[in-house]
Amino acid sequence: MLEVADVTKTYSGVPAVRGLSLSAVPGQVIGLLGPNGSGKSTTVRMLVGLLRPSIGAIRWEGVDIQQQLLRYQASVGYVPEEPHLYEYLTAPEYLELVGGIRDIPASALSRRIDRYLQLFGLETDIYAPLSAFSKGMRQKVLISAALLHDPAIIVFDEPCSGLDVESTLVLRALVRTLATRGKTIVYSSHVLDMVEKVCDQVVILHKSHVVAHDSVSRLRELSQAASLEEVFASLAVSRDVDRIGRELAEVAVS
Ligand SMILES: Nc1ncnc2c1ncn2[C@@H]1O[C@H](COP(=O)(O)OP(=O)(O)OP(=O)(O)O)[C@@H](O)[C@H]1O
Ligand SMILES: [Mg+2]
Repeated sequence: MLEVADVTKTYSGVPAVRGLSLSAVPGQVIGLLGPNGSGKSTTVRMLVGLLRPSIGAIRWEGVDIQQQLLRYQASVGYVPEEPHLYEYLTAPEYLELVGGIRDIPASALSRRIDRYLQLFGLETDIYAPLSAFSKGMRQKVLISAALLHDPAIIVFDEPCSGLDVESTLVLRALVRTLATRGKTIVYSSHVLDMVEKVCDQVVILHKSHVVAHDSVSRLRELSQAASLEEVFASLAVSRDVDRIGRELAEVAVS
């Protein structure tokens, strides 16, 4: 079980996440939802062991991840928000590099790389450097890199970013299948529809606080809303979005 116990993270004394608690068991997809700057990526970076909580602890199978960081990170796959890749490598070279770091035997690695590139429709792009890849193509390489070592925990931060409709549907089926295979999954996104479709539980963050934490159906029931979008709007959208949109369109013509 992955447990976040009363975690607070501050940057130079300013809290980015306050008093967050959650737990996810294998087979569960937990969604992190919230407006810009609400603390999703900070939470994700703590969950993958890149940031240390200022207060509280994150435990995997009962042990604080800080006490077993390398072992823990070996069982985590992470799709980061920013698609930073080694631009001069090709996709197979990049995945070989990641697979080497993950200690995957050469024959299995080469088989997996071929399969990911084929399934993501990148098999004709194997000689191009990653600098020539579009945002969606980069995202497919990042997702492949996160899954290569068959991790027990997979953390996605805005994984749909840049993906077209078909690839988004593929990602949805992939996440649900990984959950069925017993993976523990954290899925952070703005895309409400996707969160609603793939997550079992949702944590809604707003200004670094948790404003709701429940199953998608229960959240809808509680607020008697038809969709998660309405729940989200009632809990986390505090500004007059229509007025701001209209005023933004006027700025350069006034
Ligand atoms: N490295 C950092 N140093 C200082 N402050 C930071 C840092 N990273 C994030 N913050 C602050 O922490 C808060 C939460 O940021 P975070 O990136 O976690 O939000 P987010 O929910 O992922 O936002 P977005 O939806 O835009 O990706 C913001 O106020 C942000 O300015
Ligand atoms: Mg973010």
